[in-house]
Amino acid sequence: MLPDPDNVQSLIIARYRHRYRVVLLFQISDPVAAQGFLRKWVPDVNGGLQPPSSYQAGLDGAAGTPDPVYHFAFSWRGISKLLKARRSETQGLNPDAVANHLESFFTKEENAPHSRSVAASLDMKDVNAPENWWAEDTDPAGFHIALFCYFGDEAQKKQGLENIRREATESGLREWQFPSFEDKALSGKVPPGGILHFGFRDGVSKVEIDWEDADKPGKVNFRELLLGYPSDQYPLSPAEPGPWREFVRDGTYVNLAWLYQDVATFNRFLRENRGAAEPHSGAEDPEEWLAAKMMGRWRNGSALALHPEGKPASNDTSNKFGYQNDANGETTPLFSHIRVCNPRDQGLTSVNEARFPNGPPRLVRRGFSYGPPLQGEEDDGRDRGLVGVFACSRINEQFYTVVRWIQKTSFSDQFDSIKNGRKRQDMMFGFRKKHNAETTTHIPVTPEGSVPLKLPLADFIRYRGLAVFLAPSLKSLRYLAGD
Ligand code: HEM
Repeated sequence: MLPDPDNVQSLIIARYRHRYRVVLLFQISDPVAAQGFLRKWVPDVNGGLQPPSSYQAGLDGAAGTPDPVYHFAFSWRGISKLLKARRSETQGLNPDAVANHLESFFTKEENAPHSRSVAASLDMKDVNAPENWWAEDTDPAGFHIALFCYFGDEAQKKQGLENIRREATESGLREWQFPSFEDKALSGKVPPGGILHFGFRDGVSKVEIDWEDADKPGKVNFRELLLGYPSDQYPLSPAEPGPWREFVRDGTYVNLAWLYQDVATFNRFLRENRGAAEPHSGAEDPEEWLAAKMMGRWRNGSALALHPEGKPASNDTSNKFGYQNDANGETTPLFSHIRVCNPRDQGLTSVNEARFPNGPPRLVRRGFSYGPPLQGEEDDGRDRGLVGVFACSRINEQFYTVVRWIQKTSFSDQFDSIKNGRKRQDMMFGFRKKHNAETTTHIPVTPEGSVPLKLPLADFIRYRGLAVFLAPSLKSLRYLAGD
């Protein structure tokens, strides 16, 4: 059985050119009224466009301001509440049966990222601990509905937010607000050229979905993203056929991450280590070279693996590279951000090979930058960073796994040749106070990679919130809306 792209919320298929992004989080008090709210906005999901071919035509090609696009996702509690509003079986789905399966499913409260045990397993401690997440008086258990909005310009955003908020209030929805954002919701924009706060271009790596299940080279199995089609290689929950599997089919999990970026600390790190980098940076500026070694890409997005000698004059967005002939990380360091988050063809430990027979876990990333650029060198106390949106079909096997690998690089035998290799971290984004962590850079600077550049790393980001939602198929979305 093949997935139905026309039934999928386009979040994971299309990259939108809309620059203004907002994620609204709502709590349901009256499920029947909430259904009314959904019915009002569901027609605008995917920008009202249906087949994936028209997403491209409508979103990339059209001139002028594109129409807004919305996507809906729900927490376990949110889905349970909406299902209770349905009284009888329709479209072959029995709401009680679906709700019963939900009870035993992954996103229930004790498996949510804000729960103590999950947060501890992800090393969300100290400044990253859940008690410091979100805003004062926010209860993440009350994030029932996440509405992802894409707007073409400021005026459209203003009007769109006004309309949504009015309808939401009338439907008894409580909106969770975040005062450090101008829009009082997680909001921001895709910066010009896709350049994020640390100066790197984002949106370069792409996940191309193999919709035909044809094992096409360079394409990603659709089961890495879509629920409802378990196979031997992808033992996706729910394994048993039945209403819950029908309900989640063509849906995906959406992991939402509010990530603060400490730009002043990152810039200072580069500046202070300029001298140490200089003997190795060739014709490149030493700070640019150091930043690139930590990311695995030059700041203009070009991969070190394809441009080892220096940044090409125009950015090269090719993703056709691996790490097989760079075992020691002489070109792309083993602990650079993109190599930790997607080790590509680098061997994993036998435990991880067994866990990921199809290669390392993949994530579709759909985030946006928030907050003003830092002016000057000192921190100005303003909130800025990235709202990360990571889609996948297995929260623990994909999203949580990559978050854990960022904190502790224990996933590959490749690290055994390096001192404390399995206790290191993503050079960009680890929590450096982690117990026993080796928190220096490892940037090979001799031909065999035997002598690394060791510089003390700082915490460059802070987790300010993590939440997990299910973005159901269009069919299930309409079902939740009471159609
Ligand atoms: C504020 C925090 C973060 C920033 C600024 C950031 C920035 C970036 C940048 C600039 C790239 C390279 C551009 C590209 O490949 O498209 C990248 C790649 C990537 N990041 Fe992050 N990232 C952050 C956090 C995370 C987190 C928390 C995860 C996972 C849980 C993650 C997963 C990935 C993945 C999977 C890639 C693609 C790697 C590849 O396929 O080669 N990132 N990130």
